[in-house]
Amino acid sequence: MTAGASRLFADLEVDVEPDAALGPRTWFGVGGRADALVRPRSIDALQTLVGRCHRDGIELRVLGEGANLLVEDEGVGGVVVRLDHPAFRERQIEGRGGADSVRAHAGVELPRLILETSRAGLAGLEGLAGIPASIGGAVKMNAGGAFGAIGDRLHAAAVLDRRGEVSVYAAADLKLGYRRASLPGPVLLWASFSLESDDPMRVQERVREVFAYKRSTQPLSDHSAGCMFKNPPPDSSGEKRSAGQLIDQAGLKGLAVGAASVSRQHANFVTVAPGATAADIVALADLVSDRVFDHAGVRLEREVVVWGRGRGEEGVRHDA
Ligand code: EPU
Repeated sequence: MTAGASRLFADLEVDVEPDAALGPRTWFGVGGRADALVRPRSIDALQTLVGRCHRDGIELRVLGEGANLLVEDEGVGGVVVRLDHPAFRERQIEGRGGADSVRAHAGVELPRLILETSRAGLAGLEGLAGIPASIGGAVKMNAGGAFGAIGDRLHAAAVLDRRGEVSVYAAADLKLGYRRASLPGPVLLWASFSLESDDPMRVQERVREVFAYKRSTQPLSDHSAGCMFKNPPPDSSGEKRSAGQLIDQAGLKGLAVGAASVSRQHANFVTVAPGATAADIVALADLVSDRVFDHAGVRLEREVVVWGRGRGEEGVRHDA
């Protein structure tokens, strides 16, 4: 971190870790370091920090739970913000249900919110059981699976713009799509959800069913970042297509580059063994993409977010 960069935070309520290892903070467990990992201790400090980064042309990234993120081996420059102070883990749960019945700050862990809302008898988020994410990352990626996406229940979101000013947007303004949302600024502050009142026992039972499905189909105990690729859009006859199935049909289960390999349980997962590098994972993903293209004529789009030096826009986002 340069002296100029450290002056950015000197008078702010933040904790700064220069040259911070990012790999261990991701689910892959590999990858390089951040010039500066910054933990704001208040919303004010976050707002000022975001504004100063913009003013000085310093890259800003937000690290969530690291569950959908690959950090390249050479790491990243600029500032990586982590919103794990209690100020960013606040949530309000309104037991009666309805619009805005749950409001959670960006640093709240999605599994915790699902646990709390299901115990409170609020239905609507249980299809997301087993997805490791922060609320910020989950909204930014419109995280989801076969049982729905977080955007289905999103009511509103508060977003910081590049100058650090907060505006609140209705879900309809965020252009939610399949594994994407268009946030009108670099940092999500909080999101609110519309949930329905239901019997807590029934909601908790559905959480268990969704989790059991995931556990039986996915390699949850291995190091991975969940699905590597997005499912492609339906084919011309409207038939749904699955990236995992396409990779499987191309015969790629078990394919390896270095210590990264295509899971034998679910072909859309890349799992890593000790000694793996981010370069192994990137090379394997490129190889899989090319082989699927040769086999089925479909170009898969990566779901996992990759951070690296000089990657520009792709870096300025939450990870899920
Ligand atoms: N399939 C295969 N071979 C495989 C994997 C899957 O033939 O190796 C087939 C399955 O048999 C099934 C179809 O592909 O017929 C779909 O598989 P699955 O039900 O596992 O769902 P998916 O589309 O692969 C999606 C999400 C997952 C989410 C699950 C369950 C995407 C890219 N993936 O997977 O999300 O957990 O549904 O809800 O949308 C993630 O986003 O990281 C992720 C893992």
